[in-house]
Amino acid sequence: MSDLLEVESLDLEGRGVAHQADGKVVFIDGALPGELVRVQITRQKPSYDRAKLVDIVRPSAQRVSTPPCPNFGVCGGCLMQHLEPTAQVAIKQRALEDAFKHIGKVQPQQLLAAMHGPYFGYRFRARFSARFVQKKGGMLVGFREKNGRYVVDMDQCLVIPKHVSDMLRPLRTALSTLSRPDRIPQIELAVGDACTVLTLRHMEPLTDSDLNTLREFAAQHNVIWWLQPKGPETAHPLNPEDSDALYYELPDYDLKMPFKPADFTQVNHQINRELIRRALRLLEIQPNDRVADLFCGLGNFSLPMGRFAKEVVGIEGSATLTQRATEAAALHGLSDSAKFSTLNLFEVDVSWLRELGHFDRVLIDPPRDGAFAVAKAYSELSLAERPQRIVYVSCNPATLARDAGILVHNGGYELKAAGVINMFPHTGHIESIAVFEAGQTGPLKMFESLENE
Ligand SMILES: C[S@@+](CC[C@H](N)C(=O)[O-])C[C@H]1O[C@@H](n2cnc3c(N)ncnc32)[C@H](O)[C@@H]1O
Repeated sequence: MSDLLEVESLDLEGRGVAHQADGKVVFIDGALPGELVRVQITRQKPSYDRAKLVDIVRPSAQRVSTPPCPNFGVCGGCLMQHLEPTAQVAIKQRALEDAFKHIGKVQPQQLLAAMHGPYFGYRFRARFSARFVQKKGGMLVGFREKNGRYVVDMDQCLVIPKHVSDMLRPLRTALSTLSRPDRIPQIELAVGDACTVLTLRHMEPLTDSDLNTLREFAAQHNVIWWLQPKGPETAHPLNPEDSDALYYELPDYDLKMPFKPADFTQVNHQINRELIRRALRLLEIQPNDRVADLFCGLGNFSLPMGRFAKEVVGIEGSATLTQRATEAAALHGLSDSAKFSTLNLFEVDVSWLRELGHFDRVLIDPPRDGAFAVAKAYSELSLAERPQRIVYVSCNPATLARDAGILVHNGGYELKAAGVINMFPHTGHIESIAVFEAGQTGPLKMFESLENE
């Protein structure tokens, strides 16, 4: 028996949300907001049900009738290809506003226009699972299925760059011929401006014949192999001369950022360039400013900031990344103005912040856990000690909203503006940016020009 339901919203796993006649909430795979759908309940829990879509009686105008990727619906990589990309962004914007309202109990004074990049071919990093399945014809290499248990049997992927998607089938064939394909659990992709690196995790030593297979594949498909026999620290290039091949450029700031395959880098290079531009405009750095970049990674924001500020201090938990940032600063003649140090920023407090001295501007770009200790420390500074402006880049609206609540309610900062960045189209991930200012000020000066970007 099927039920007829009106879909009210979409959750971030791409499931339509509706209420049944008795008020119980139901999540429907594949259904979109505004649609009238027939569903069949597949699982019942005390507080919600799961249902499968049987028929769309009234489709949404924003439905993409044929999602472009053949793996859509099975693959766990993309969950929203059946919805127009601009509507995806609207849903993410609403999720951000809801998080501010319900978690942080704050409201941005202004909403920034969402930032868009390419909808496909944008993922310059990916972690593919691998599994040798004889009855599927050999090696599977791809994202995991939505259920998480199996590797998708995929010959293409539209969110990774096309040249990588085109090599998926030959990669599967080549890996199937290795001596122990059943001992290859994962392949990581890192695409730089000048080369593509595949890091092969192998749990058994590779034979000479295996190495030849990898070399032939590299020559044919113009990739560089890194090999990882154990933990991430054991990763090394198959050919030692390929060690320094990866970099990405930030042409607006005349910067070339070298990195290694396992380093944190932003997944979407095009949007990253936009994001840096926007963050710097929002910070409004002045030539005499002292600026902090917290969770600075390899200096993705610090070095661009170093082009304008008197001094930049980048702080980060990974010594490898601060080392990378220090080297990049030296490469660009920024060693005098950009300094880096390694510290666990989840454990800082206001006295540590005071020891660092006064900063005029601060950029915070934490991992998903957010920056609770940092936000708390800033909220405890006196008005005179505070940075005038904090720009917070976030990959998790819930922790951004929590930290915003601390800055606003405990610290008296104003949440001037916030907006989403479409860093990961077709997925449920929400990247966003927020601007805080100490004390009462008028609207952000640059707001109108950002709206017209
Ligand atoms: C979202 S990334 C941002 C990196 C950099 N801003 C960029 O754009 O490339 C978050 C960074 O926080 C660092 N991190 C994670 N936990 C940390 C901690 N407890 N203390 C300091 N840094 C940490 C990670 O190593 C990573 O570089």
